[in-house]
Amino acid sequence: MSRRLSTRLLHSGEPLVEGAVVPPIFQSATFAEEEGRSYDDIRYARLSNTPTHTGLHKKLAAATGYDDALVTASGMAAISAALLSVLSAGDELLAQRGLYGGTHSLFTKLFPRLGIQVHFVDDHEEAWREALTDKTKAFYCEALTNPLLSIADLPGIAAFARENGLVSVIDNTFAGPAIFRPAELGFDLEVHSATKSLNGHSDLCAGVVAGDAAHVLEARRTLNLLGGSLDPHAAWLLERGMKTLPLRVRAASAGARKLAELLADHPEVARVYYPSLTEHPSHERCAEWFDDTGAMLAFELVGGAEAAMAVVSALEIPILAPSLGGVETLITLPAQSSHASMPAEWRRATGIADGLVRVAVGIEDPEDLAADFLQALERA
Ligand SMILES: Cc1ncc(COP(=O)(O)O)c(C=O)c1O
Repeated sequence: MSRRLSTRLLHSGEPLVEGAVVPPIFQSATFAEEEGRSYDDIRYARLSNTPTHTGLHKKLAAATGYDDALVTASGMAAISAALLSVLSAGDELLAQRGLYGGTHSLFTKLFPRLGIQVHFVDDHEEAWREALTDKTKAFYCEALTNPLLSIADLPGIAAFARENGLVSVIDNTFAGPAIFRPAELGFDLEVHSATKSLNGHSDLCAGVVAGDAAHVLEARRTLNLLGGSLDPHAAWLLERGMKTLPLRVRAASAGARKLAELLADHPEVARVYYPSLTEHPSHERCAEWFDDTGAMLAFELVGGAEAAMAVVSALEIPILAPSLGGVETLITLPAQSSHASMPAEWRRATGIADGLVRVAVGIEDPEDLAADFLQALERA
C-alpha cells in the first residue's frame, strides 16, 4: 500500500524498540563487534551507521522517494560529499547561476584548488550544450533559487544530464519534499540543508543526500573520509522535526502568500519576489511543477537599501537572522548575509540588489505578521 508523505514522515524508519512509541537515541560513538562479522560491519558514529542514523536514512528515503539517503553534519557537508563523490581533478561541472552563496564559494574558491572547473550556465539548453565538454561529469542546480525564488527548467536539466551521461544533482532545500520531489523528474541526487525546513525548529545544523543506492553509497564513502557525519542527538532531533513538515510548510506557505500580496499592493514596495504572484518570472513553472509556493519571499523598497534597513529595524515579530525554514519568521538582507561572500558585481548581475530583503516566513498567525509589516512600513 503506498502511503502519503505525512504518514511516511511519521512511521518510516521507526521500529518499536522496547515498545517505545518514539525511537530512542543511540548516543554511542561505537558499538560492540559481533563475532564473525567483517570490518565493513563495524558500527561507528562517523560512519553514519548507528541505529539512529539508519532509522533516519529510511525516513529520508521514504520522504524524498529515493532508494536511499544519508544524513550529514550540515547542508554544505551534504553538497560537498555528493559532488566530491562524482567529481575528481580534471572534471568539469555545469551549474545554474544564482546559487546559494556558500555553494557559490565552494564552486569558485575550493573546487578550482582541487582541479575541478565549474561553468555557470544560463537557463536554456543551448547554453548547456555550449559549456559541455568531454570532461563534464555533473550538472548542479537548485529547486528554487535563493533569494529570488526563480525556478530553472528542472525537467530539462534532468533530461539533458541523462542524455549526456552527467550526474544530476539538485539542492531541494527551499522547496522540500512537501512541495517538490526531484526523484519524479529523474534527478540522480537530491541534497538539502536539513538545518532549514526539514528540521524546522532552528535548533540544529544538518544536511541530506538522497538518491539511488549506488550514488548514495559513493556519497557515504566520501563523507566517511571527510568526517562530516551528524551527531546522533542532532539526528534524533531532526527525525522529530520532520514529522510535522507538511503541516509547517502548509501554514508557512499560506502566511507567505498573504504577506507577498500585502507587500505587492503597498506603495513603498518597489518589487516582490514570490512565485504565487502572476508577475513573478517563475509563476507558471511553480504552478505546474510544485504543490505549493513555500515560505520564502523577497522584496525591494522604493527607498532602496536605507529604507530596507529602516523597515527591518521597525519590525517587531521577525528576527533579523540568516537561515530559514524554522517555525519563527526570520528576515535578512542577502547582500549582508547569505550572499555577502559573493563579489558585489556578481550579486548585482544575478539581480540581488543591496536593499533586497529576504523573509523566511514562519508559522505565526498571518494576520499578526501582516499587521507588523504594515506598521513597520508606516514607521520607516
Ligand atoms: C539553499 C541552501 N543550500 C545549502 C545551504 C547550506 O546549509 P548549511 O548551512 O546547513 O550548511 C543553505 C544555507 O543557507 C541554503 O540556503
